[in-house]
Amino acid sequence: MGDNKFVKKILCIGAGYVGGPTMTVIANFCPDYHVTVVDISQEKIDRWNSNDLPIYEPGLKERLLKVRGHNLFFSTDIDKGIAEADIIFVSVNTPTKTFGEGAGRAVDLQYIEKTARRIKAHARSDKIVVEKSTIPVRAAETIDKILHSGNNSVKFEILSNPEFMAEGTGIKDMETPDRVLIGSMETPSGIKAREELVKLYEHWVPRENIVTSNLWSSELSKLVSNAFLAQRISSINSIASLCEETGADVHQVARAVGKDSRIGPKFLKAGVGFGGSCFRKDILNMIYLCEHYGLQPVADFWQQVVDLNDYQMRRFVQRILRAMFNSVVDKKIALFGFAFKPDTGDTRDAPAIYISKMLLNERAQLWITDPHALENAKADLEGVDGQVTYEPDPYKAAEGAHTIALITEWEEYRNLDYERIFKSMEKPAFLFDGRNHLDHEALFQIGFNVYPVGKPARTHV
Ligand code: NAD
Ligand code: UGA
Repeated sequence: MGDNKFVKKILCIGAGYVGGPTMTVIANFCPDYHVTVVDISQEKIDRWNSNDLPIYEPGLKERLLKVRGHNLFFSTDIDKGIAEADIIFVSVNTPTKTFGEGAGRAVDLQYIEKTARRIKAHARSDKIVVEKSTIPVRAAETIDKILHSGNNSVKFEILSNPEFMAEGTGIKDMETPDRVLIGSMETPSGIKAREELVKLYEHWVPRENIVTSNLWSSELSKLVSNAFLAQRISSINSIASLCEETGADVHQVARAVGKDSRIGPKFLKAGVGFGGSCFRKDILNMIYLCEHYGLQPVADFWQQVVDLNDYQMRRFVQRILRAMFNSVVDKKIALFGFAFKPDTGDTRDAPAIYISKMLLNERAQLWITDPHALENAKADLEGVDGQVTYEPDPYKAAEGAHTIALITEWEEYRNLDYERIFKSMEKPAFLFDGRNHLDHEALFQIGFNVYPVGKPARTHV
């Protein structure tokens, strides 16, 4: 069949955690759209075209296999893709800058800029360019300047359509989103382009859940959403430390507080701190913007959310040290879980990285286990001094260990035979449940010394 059975051609630049899954969902719901995903990484594109996808996300593979080769294609031919597309989604990475001015805070926009320049160089017809990546407010202005520079007669309309999906539930989040946000310039051509994107999402999202706004509100809303979510986690983690001192139970406090419909129950799970590629990066980005606009007290307010998260990870390690007689030198510690959350192999900015480094610095022997993230864990700890073993089997990881530290709440960790694990461990056997994931009373009855987060410890020693 020829290409003319499609109403529009979509291109997505960037075949990562966002580009691959979002385009898979669009291709599934919009059989009348031709979708191509491109990337500079040949290896990534080869994997998207194989059975060994480059990312693990529940439900992704089944959906991908339904449409790949029909209306969803993966390619490294970026220039051809640009020339043919009507709508171009930009979902390249926007990491925190590691060099020069703003290092450690500002966003490194080099990938966005390179993409904009490439679009300009290869576009021969008018296009809608959609910012899917998370970027600083007013970044669209820069993109617009690049696209319309020189004497190119091609016209570009820029839209902001931030992605709100969370990893591990990405497919569900995209199939039934709380909202889809589309920002545009409030000019007739901007609004026309926005309606074009609304039409696409209306294939599966009810119109009342498609929110439209001006460009700057849309760009800022993405940063604010992540900042608010991370702030809730730091808030409850700050209370967890108070609970540990006072005998209150953070789970009970969160339940009581969250019952207030103005507060709500979600994102109040205390733990070892938030990780993932975006929370830290996006808050730092917002802090940098606040400083840029001279709003120091606002910057300081949001900085506290990040600082508290660092404190929470340090506190977890300090608790291990204190309980284990102030030394973990040469003691075997089994780390249960390395991914920044369950149901993903992603370890970007995972608390496990910081916790591992702190424990290795204390000269512990680490045995790391995780059902999906061992490959990434190895890369994250490459070159770090210390003794680390990567072991897919949690029973082996715990054999002869002095302690288990649970960092990621994988469902399978609830169903392990802890009697068997306890028997195989050094005594006294400790278990630090960094996600309050296990049955603490049952573990205590088996003989473990159990240390949850934000709850009194249950100890025999
Ligand atoms: P990622 O690193 O997984 O993927 C980005 C891809 O872009 C990479 O494969 C990279 O090779 C490619 N790329 C970089 N420069 C390119 C270029 N010039 N041309 C073609 N390809 C290029 O990143 P991600 O997690 O998918 O995040 C992408 C954006 O989406 C970021 O701005 C992020 O903040 C945002 N976001 C991420 C999530 C998430 O859950 N990961 C959720 C919402 C928003
Ligand atoms: C987060 C947001 O939830 C998404 O809406 C957003 O699109 C995405 O960032 C992004 O911009 O990248 P994600 O990082 O994938 O999604 O996962 P979350 O479920 O938000 O979890 C982030 C971290 O917070 C995890 O380490 C998790 O363990 C931790 N967390 C979450 C808690 O410690 N307590 C909670 O109550 C909730």
